[in-house]
Amino acid sequence: MSGTTNGSVTISLDGTNQSLKLPLLAGTIGPSVADIRKLYGNLGIFTFDPGYGETASCESKITYIDGDQGVLLYRGYPIEELAEYASFIEVAYLLLSGELPNAAQLKDFDAGVRNHTMLHEQLRRFFEGFRRDAHPMAVLCGVVGALSAFYHDSLDITNPEHRRISAFRLIAKVPTIAAWTYKYAIGQPFMYPRNDLSYAENFLYMMNAVPAEPYKVNPVLAAAMDRILTLHADHEQNASTSTVRLAGSTGANPFACIAAGIASLWGPAHGGANEAVLRMLSEIGHVKAIPEFISKVKDRNSHVRLMGFGHRVYKNYDPRAKIMQRTCHEVLDELGIKDDPLLDLAVELEKIALEDDYFVSRKLYPNVDFYSGIILKAMGFPTSMFTVLFAVARTVGWISQWQEMIEDPSQRIGRPRQLYTGPTQRSYLPIEKRA
Ligand code: CMC
Repeated sequence: MSGTTNGSVTISLDGTNQSLKLPLLAGTIGPSVADIRKLYGNLGIFTFDPGYGETASCESKITYIDGDQGVLLYRGYPIEELAEYASFIEVAYLLLSGELPNAAQLKDFDAGVRNHTMLHEQLRRFFEGFRRDAHPMAVLCGVVGALSAFYHDSLDITNPEHRRISAFRLIAKVPTIAAWTYKYAIGQPFMYPRNDLSYAENFLYMMNAVPAEPYKVNPVLAAAMDRILTLHADHEQNASTSTVRLAGSTGANPFACIAAGIASLWGPAHGGANEAVLRMLSEIGHVKAIPEFISKVKDRNSHVRLMGFGHRVYKNYDPRAKIMQRTCHEVLDELGIKDDPLLDLAVELEKIALEDDYFVSRKLYPNVDFYSGIILKAMGFPTSMFTVLFAVARTVGWISQWQEMIEDPSQRIGRPRQLYTGPTQRSYLPIEKRA
């Protein structure tokens, strides 16, 4: 633990003379954390924090979020600057290694990723075990999990070289698997990766090309894709990243851990939200229907949420959403889409929600998913692929966080406690004596 001690907080048990001084640990920025590791040993109590909203589960140097100010930093660099000036591969290097690469380092790293884009040929056959109508996230999760059955030579998590190669393999192969989940669903031949293309170009190529015709990647769309990947690359200890860390804390191999992260990302409250936004916009259907929809959202009993709004951490505009909004206009302009009814609906919905007291008082602002669905739809991605794309980008964050965890000497198996409210001990009752 390298956070410095910065004061203390004393906790005392009412009605007893027992108390404990807990050290307050300060990071470089952000709130200090009370170190409760000796709490149970000294006072015999645990803390209660369902959803871990107040709990720092680890020390990390990778990503910082100030949810009140709408700030997101990767290794100290603002997301706005990285999205504007850096390529996704540069961002991947930064997240993994801690520093921006110089020209030679970037060339080497890029070549390393390009070197690993192909899949073991036998892994192709895995796809055939899935139904054609399977959700691509189900296929992605299964095939990524299966990587550990193919790459035995990089599974020793105590070996830094194995960890390095596994990181390259994951970053390089996940786009290939992702594109193939789509090709499999639509019955088109799998396109092998092209290592002469950039990361984003290659992904678009594998998604859209067919062997029968030449395919030229649109540079504006490739630049937008690269930026979308950067925006989704990491987001500190969110549900899927915490899942990866928790799975990794047991010593599980990185391919299995990333498969666990993919499963966690799939849910509509997390990565599945971009898909849900588009479904919601289609269901609303028309600008005139917005007021009725908003009243449903405000009615507690309806359980309807405004998808793409709200965030566990951001209580301000999600900085990624602003960049997404701009990218959305760039993509629609490039594709010559003058009037997109879904975009019109989204813009109007956002305007109304940002003025409505329900959303204002709860600090519910658009998040990264509000506009990403519209962009991806315009680029030709089917809705079911949205979360898959998120997983492609987040693989870099997951593997960086996994690596940091493995290298952290204070790392232990993740094992939360509970507040038990079930029956106290009782004796087994033979069936004839039960009511
Ligand atoms: N629409 C309507 N009301 C909402 C919404 C929403 N999208 N989000 C939160 N609320 C309300 C909620 O009902 C509660 O109201 P009250 O205090 O009256 O009970 C209050 O706001 C606080 O909500 P919460 O559930 O305690 O907030 P949370 O921090 O647990 O949830 C969230 C965060 C992202 C799960 C939630 O805002 C949500 O479900 N949003 C829609 C799904 C979505 O867009 N998810 C993508 C998140 S960004 C991508 C990613 O990083 O994964």
